[in-house]
Amino acid sequence: MENISLILFVLLGALLLRALWQLVRLSWAPNARLPGPWYTKYTGLVTVYKEFNGTGAHWVEQLHRKYGNVVRIKPNEVDFNSPSAAKTIHSYRKPFTKAAFYSMLDFNPGVPSIITTRDNANHGRLRRLFSSSTSESSMKLVEPLVNERIDLAIQRMEEEMTAEGYADVLKWWVFMATDVSGHLSFGESFRMLEQKKKNQYAKDLEDASKGVALMQLSPRLWKTLGEWGVPIFRGLLALRARVQKYADESLRRQQRMQIVEAQNFRPTFFTNILREGEKNGDTMSWDEMRMNADAFIIAGADTTAHTLTYLVWQLSKLENVSMKKRLLEELSLLKDGFTNEDLKPLSYLQCVITETLRLHAAAPGQLPRDVPPGGAEIDGIWFEEGTVAVTQPFSLHRNADVFPEPEEFNPSRWEAPSKAMNDAFLAFGGGSRTCLGINLANMELRLATAKYFLKFPHSKVSTKEGFCDDDMEMWISFLMSPKKHRCLIELS
Ligand code: HEM
Repeated sequence: MENISLILFVLLGALLLRALWQLVRLSWAPNARLPGPWYTKYTGLVTVYKEFNGTGAHWVEQLHRKYGNVVRIKPNEVDFNSPSAAKTIHSYRKPFTKAAFYSMLDFNPGVPSIITTRDNANHGRLRRLFSSSTSESSMKLVEPLVNERIDLAIQRMEEEMTAEGYADVLKWWVFMATDVSGHLSFGESFRMLEQKKKNQYAKDLEDASKGVALMQLSPRLWKTLGEWGVPIFRGLLALRARVQKYADESLRRQQRMQIVEAQNFRPTFFTNILREGEKNGDTMSWDEMRMNADAFIIAGADTTAHTLTYLVWQLSKLENVSMKKRLLEELSLLKDGFTNEDLKPLSYLQCVITETLRLHAAAPGQLPRDVPPGGAEIDGIWFEEGTVAVTQPFSLHRNADVFPEPEEFNPSRWEAPSKAMNDAFLAFGGGSRTCLGINLANMELRLATAKYFLKFPHSKVSTKEGFCDDDMEMWISFLMSPKKHRCLIELS
C-alpha cells in the first residue's frame, strides 16, 4: 500500500513538474511577446471552440481591432491582417506551405486532393494536370453548359415566384452551381434543377463536410469509433463509402461515354486525365481522381452559389437601388445572346462582383500556412519554423485602413483600387494556391448576374415568411453560408 502511495506521489509530482515546465516554456516562447489574449500563450482551446461554433472568423476580426494587425491566436499560431503580410505568406516565389489543418480535411486520409495536399511537388503535379481544363481559353467550351444551367435556374425562380410570391434564390443558385460542378467532375449534370431537389450524393457530401469538423478532433479516433459501431461515427463511415462508390461509378461511366459518344461528349475537368490515363496509366491514380472529383464539387458549388446569393440580396435592397440602376444601365448596352467575352469589359458589373466577394467572401475563414524551414520575417517580425502563419479574408477585407467604412457595401470603391486593396483581397486565396476554379467562377458570376438582373430588374428583398437581414448573417466554418440557409426575393 505504502509503495502504491509512493508511486502515485512520484507520478503526480512528475506531471506537476511537466505542467510547470510547459507553463514556463510557453511564457518565454518567442510568440509569447506578441499581442493577443493572455490565454492564447498557453492554449488554443478557445480558438478551436470558436472555430467549431462558427464564430471564429468574427472573433479573430475583433482581436485585430483590439490588438492590431498581428495577433497570437494559439501558442504556435499567429493571425496577420496587413496586405504586406498577406503578400509575404501567399507569395508565388517563396510560398509558405499549407499547414497540418488541411490534412484533417482529407476525406480519405493518405489521398490528398489538390486542395488539401501539403506537398509542393505533388501540388505542382496536380495543378499541371488540371491546368488546361480550367484555363480561361477552355471556358469557351464550358460556356454553353453554364448558360443552360443559369437559364433553367432563372426559369425555376420565376415559377416559384408565381406560386409563392417570392423565390428562394439561394436554393436555385445552389442547384445551378452544383449541377455545373457535377457535370465538370462526372460528365453528367446532377439534374437538380430538373428534379428541384438535391440528390443523395450532394446531401452526403454536405453532411461529410460537416463530419470533417468531427474528424478534425482525431481522424484515427473517428475511424475506430465508427468501426466499433458508435452510431454517428458509423453513419459517417457509411456515408463516406456511399460518396466513394458514387464517384467511382460516375468516373467509370464518364470514361466509357468519352469513347462511345466521343462526338457529343462535353469536356470535363477529367477528360484529358482519363484519356491520358488510358494511354500512360500513370497520370493520376484512380483514388486521386475520386478525391479530386469530390473536392471540385465541394469547392465549386456553394462558393459560387453563396456569392451569387449575397450579390442578388445586396442589389435587391431598397437602400441599394441606385447601384442596381447603374448596373442595369451598363447591361442595357448588351446585345441578345451576349457571351462571357462581352461581359468582361463591363466595369461596374466587375465592381459589384468584387465588392460582394470582399464583404461576403465565400471562403472567409483561416488560410493557415507553415513558416518555412529556417524561419521567416513577416511585417518586420522574425518567426521561427513551427509557427503557423494565418491570414483570413474575413478580417483582411474589413481592415479599415485599406477599405474605409468596411461594413458598407460599396462597389464603386473598386473603380480605382489601390495596391493595398488588391494585396488584401484574398477571396480566391493567393499565390500558387489561388483558386483553380477562378475562371469558371468568374464566368458563372458574370453570366448569372447579367441574366438575372436583365430578367428581374425589379428584384427586391421579400419580408414574406418572416425573412429579414438576420437570416443572411454569415455563418463561417471554413466556408460561409447564410445563417438560415434561405434568401427570399420578390422578382417583380
Ligand atoms: C466564387 C466562387 C469561389 C470562391 C470564392 C473560391 C475560393 C477559393 C479559395 C479562397 C481558395 C483557396 C483555399 C486555400 O488556400 O485553402 C480556393 C481554392 C480552390 N478552388 Fe475555389 N473558389 C470558388 C469557386 C471555385 C470553383 C467553381 C472551383 C472548381 C470547380 C474551385 C476549385 C478550387 C480548387 C481546386 C482550389 C485549390 C487550388 C490549389 O490549392 O491549387 N473553386 N478557392
